[in-house]
Amino acid sequence: MHQAGLRILVVNGPNLNLLGSREPEVYGPETLEMIASRLRAIGPELGFEVTFFQANGEGQLIDALQGARGTADGVVLNPGALGHYSFALRDAVSAIGVPVFEVHLSNVFAREPFRRRLVVAAVAAGVVVGAGPLGYELAIRGLLAKLHQER
Ligand code: DQA
Repeated sequence: MHQAGLRILVVNGPNLNLLGSREPEVYGPETLEMIASRLRAIGPELGFEVTFFQANGEGQLIDALQGARGTADGVVLNPGALGHYSFALRDAVSAIGVPVFEVHLSNVFAREPFRRRLVVAAVAAGVVVGAGPLGYELAIRGLLAKLHQER
């Protein structure tokens, strides 16, 4: 166990930097920074420390996932639209040997048909869909439960 708790990397993909102003009727009023500060606040109590990364490009996200090897105990990934079609992101998730929980703020199964396919999900340790910003916390709790089981 690391002194400061388990190391969780939260990775957000394309357009999630616009949270707060982007289609608030779908994604809610909270910004990514608001989500990040809440996770930072609950970290000490739940026993994790959190690092955030957001990029709009697939390659940058793959680099961040590869960088999780040896630096993070678990990853929370909102791949944005890439979750529907990026086999490269899926391959990165299965390559790194670090458990990844996938998060989607909205209920992708209740939206356009193209959002119903999640190509990364099959190699994820778990998926949280439609819980809004709370989904990130739920995913972290899921990861912590899994990581504690493995000890
Ligand atoms: C999303 C759902 C995706 O379909 C969409 O492209 C996003 C956000 C979500 O968090 O609900 O960018 O991943």
